[in-house]
Amino acid sequence: MGQILVTGAAGFIGSHTTDRLLAEGHTVLGVDNFRSGHRRNLAGALTQSRFRLAEADVAGAGVLDRLVAEFRPEAIIHLAALVSVQESIRDPELNHRLNVTATERVAAAALAHGVQRIVFASSAAIYGDTADLPIREETAKAPISPYGEAKLRSEDILLGLAPRGVTVRCHRYFNVFGPRQDPASPYSGVISIFERRYREGRGVTIYGDGRQTRDFISVHDVARANVIAAVQPGITPGAANICTGRATSLLDIVAIFARHYPQAPAPRFEPARAGDIIHSLGSAARAEVELGFTARVSVADGLAELIRVS
Ligand code: UD1
Repeated sequence: MGQILVTGAAGFIGSHTTDRLLAEGHTVLGVDNFRSGHRRNLAGALTQSRFRLAEADVAGAGVLDRLVAEFRPEAIIHLAALVSVQESIRDPELNHRLNVTATERVAAAALAHGVQRIVFASSAAIYGDTADLPIREETAKAPISPYGEAKLRSEDILLGLAPRGVTVRCHRYFNVFGPRQDPASPYSGVISIFERRYREGRGVTIYGDGRQTRDFISVHDVARANVIAAVQPGITPGAANICTGRATSLLDIVAIFARHYPQAPAPRFEPARAGDIIHSLGSAARAEVELGFTARVSVADGLAELIRVS
């Protein structure tokens, strides 16, 4: 069983990844500054002796170096990030610090202390708005936000470590959903917003005609992909989409919620948001070949679970 360091461990994806590592018997050092993560997300992990939590800013000079020197992980799963595209537009410097400088710290600490693997939270945002669907990894990279640019730059930094013996896997997540996703902002993931509104008996708002589609992937599948990439022997370095390869429209999502909340008010329709893309869909083929990873949780099952636990 391995020693794995998880940055952003108290976040949405980080906490599920931590839970899965612990369930598989690994020892985990979680690092989080609680900027967007929450201690409550680690309630289960904190009861386990194989888990330790460090409250620290991974972008800070020397911070990660000290933690890696002491913990000696075989792998780092780097999920700490500024997660909001809108915030990256408002504050590009903060975006750079949290999404690029932090990655440089991960790379330097890995090299200095012989970490064998890095798994990195990249994003479909590196592709920008492309009409060439499904998006395959070879598709041109044309990010349209500082967030997407920083994720692409981070991939380059980390994949550049290959000649120095570090196996890096970059995971280009599509639209991740599931328990612990924060619905706080109007720009939070649509499923987290809809779940809360249905639970509170309020109607949802659909921007556009609802026929826009996304490749929604359960956070449980994402956590499983992260763990595979961190611990499975014989993984080759590289980048792959982490997606389902299936398109689901907002009307499909609303229909599923309506089955669980038959009394809910009908959705309100408002004009599409500026800059909104109509369709996003990934090709799941490369992750299957390179990681042996295929998403298992359907949107209907994922929503049923989300509704049950929320
Ligand atoms: C994602 C990012 C967004 C970014 C965009 C750039 C997240 C959560 N969102 O958006 O910040 O600008 O990529 O490509 O990472 N919607 C509604 N009602 C709501 C909320 C959303 O109809 O209450 C719609 C949106 O207008 C959109 C769809 O739902 O058409 C999905 O929205 P969202 O979950 O934000 O995902 P992306 O559009 O992929």
